[in-house]
Amino acid sequence: MRKKIIAGNWKMNMTIAGALELVDGLKKELAAGAECDVVVCPPFTALSAVAEAVKGSCIALGCQNMSSEDDGAFTGEISHTMLKEIGVEYVILGHSERRAYYKENDFWINKKVVKVLAEGLTPILCVGETLEEREAEKTMNVVGEQLTAGLVGVSAEDLKKTVIAYEPVWAIGTGKTATPQMAQEVHAFIRKTLVDIAGAEAADAVRIQYGGSMKPGNAPELLAEIDIDGGLIGGAALKADSFAGIISAAK
Ligand code: PGA
Repeated sequence: MRKKIIAGNWKMNMTIAGALELVDGLKKELAAGAECDVVVCPPFTALSAVAEAVKGSCIALGCQNMSSEDDGAFTGEISHTMLKEIGVEYVILGHSERRAYYKENDFWINKKVVKVLAEGLTPILCVGETLEEREAEKTMNVVGEQLTAGLVGVSAEDLKKTVIAYEPVWAIGTGKTATPQMAQEVHAFIRKTLVDIAGAEAADAVRIQYGGSMKPGNAPELLAEIDIDGGLIGGAALKADSFAGIISAAK
């Protein structure tokens, strides 16, 4: 049995004050604990404050990017040493917004995935097709390519620790969600691709999150699908009650 994992991707939202208020609300909602792994990924500026605030709770800390380099002349970048010093455990990589707006490609995403794993952190590798690609029936090609290219050089043992997030780009922040059947179809394809990459044992251990307008209302149905092992939540992670609602659906 894979333990479900619900992660909040706060994107470029929340000042330190706002982040602390949100975490405070979340800790109250989760006072009795959670039956799944819970992760919040604040912006870099709020990481330290949130790290302090989640100490002793069931909430783990993640972030939204990491450099593939160790240190040095890389203006604007953040290294694994800096993140681990704060207590970050998870790193979102390859999000469609970074692919689309910052031209991150599979080559660079893969370098980061390999680095994150080498440093003992957990990557959340995002894959997903655009509306155009879905309509052209290229979903599986696109997702298969992002997955295969993103995981070059990752061993079966490291793959087991890796989290994959299937996020159809057309569902992100749009209020349009993939139906549970649509999502499950792609999740099953991802699992099959992982079997080809690293064998059945490793593939079976990988947790595959769904992301794209997941809310307390649609989470139970999505999370009931056999290959949907959690969620990567954007908008609904910015309010304690809605994020907690999704967490309680993940049993
Ligand atoms: P959303 O974002 O839940 O607001 O659709 C999900 C994501 O981009 O990770």
